[in-house]
Amino acid sequence: MTKVLVAGATGMLGREIAGSLLRRGAQVCALVRPESAGAEAARALKERGAEIVQGTLERPDRALDGVDVVVSAVQGGPEVVVDGQLALLRAAEKAGVSRLIPSDFAVDLFRLDDGDNVFLDDRRKAHEAFTGAGIQVTSVLNGAFHEVMTASFLEIVDWEKGTFSYWGDGDEPCDFTTVADTAAYTAAVALDADASGPVRMAGDVLSMKDFHAALERGSGRSLALRRLGSTEELAAEIERRKSVAAGPADYVALQYVWAMVTGKAKLQPLDNDRYPDIRPTGMAEFARRFAR
Ligand SMILES: NC(=O)c1ccc[n+]([C@@H]2O[C@H](COP(=O)([O-])OP(=O)(O)OC[C@H]3O[C@@H](n4cnc5c(N)ncnc54)[C@H](OP(=O)(O)O)[C@@H]3O)[C@@H](O)[C@H]2O)c1
Repeated sequence: MTKVLVAGATGMLGREIAGSLLRRGAQVCALVRPESAGAEAARALKERGAEIVQGTLERPDRALDGVDVVVSAVQGGPEVVVDGQLALLRAAEKAGVSRLIPSDFAVDLFRLDDGDNVFLDDRRKAHEAFTGAGIQVTSVLNGAFHEVMTASFLEIVDWEKGTFSYWGDGDEPCDFTTVADTAAYTAAVALDADASGPVRMAGDVLSMKDFHAALERGSGRSLALRRLGSTEELAAEIERRKSVAAGPADYVALQYVWAMVTGKAKLQPLDNDRYPDIRPTGMAEFARRFAR
């Protein structure tokens, strides 16, 4: 039985990955830091059969005993994504782990340049630090979560006002995958000894205009379509927000949108066919459930 250590298992994506691994019959160990606010999530995973081990990315200690694959779903600044994940990789290397799936789970960050996206810059820095490691590193790339793209902080869908706002020409294909489907694919990749990264998958590929139509179709609600400006105007808006930002959270959402609507971080080719047992949720189906 493959043993998988999940770091970040108390988080939104990490707990779903741990659950998907358990469903696929893996032995799961969750690395939970002592100060975690995710005690409830850890308890739920324990009830489902996961082993919970207290530790940190820097000191995972016995959490790595007998582990074949490490999946990281941590979130944070460079001290977590670069330094923390590198420390975990070094410890995993020493423990004889064969593969690490780092906390990427995004659009194709390898097609972006420094400065395009502050969070994805850190993830590429982590990969640079991983170079030469004696452990295979396999990224899972999923585009954007349906849940995030329809949330208010993305400034696209406003269910209260009944509007759908987009940048660009609205015709560029973008990749969308739900949190649960991203977790299912990640579990499949973790247990697929032949997978080598990056592995790219999408639950749906839609232009902004298609995205709008799918939400209307699925939810049965009408959303007034508003074009906010060109991709150049979006870049200017990002720079404007950056100049007055208290932190990256004030502009990073628009950087993700820019990477999608310019087509720069499009996932291609997609590897969905490698895991035909996973039937991902399309946007219209997601909206149907959401509207219930
Ligand atoms: N493609 C998309 O649309 C999309 C959207 C959102 C997120 N993501 C990606 O998905 C991944 C997971 O994000 P998420 O939203 O699930 O994150 P989240 O809910 O904020 O959870 C973060 C996890 O990281 C753990 N963590 C944070 N700092 C840590 C540290 N120093 N040491 C050990 N563990 C630490 C947290 O543990 P505690 O319980 O101890 O705090 C928690 O388990 C990230 O790579 C993120 O960028 C992608």
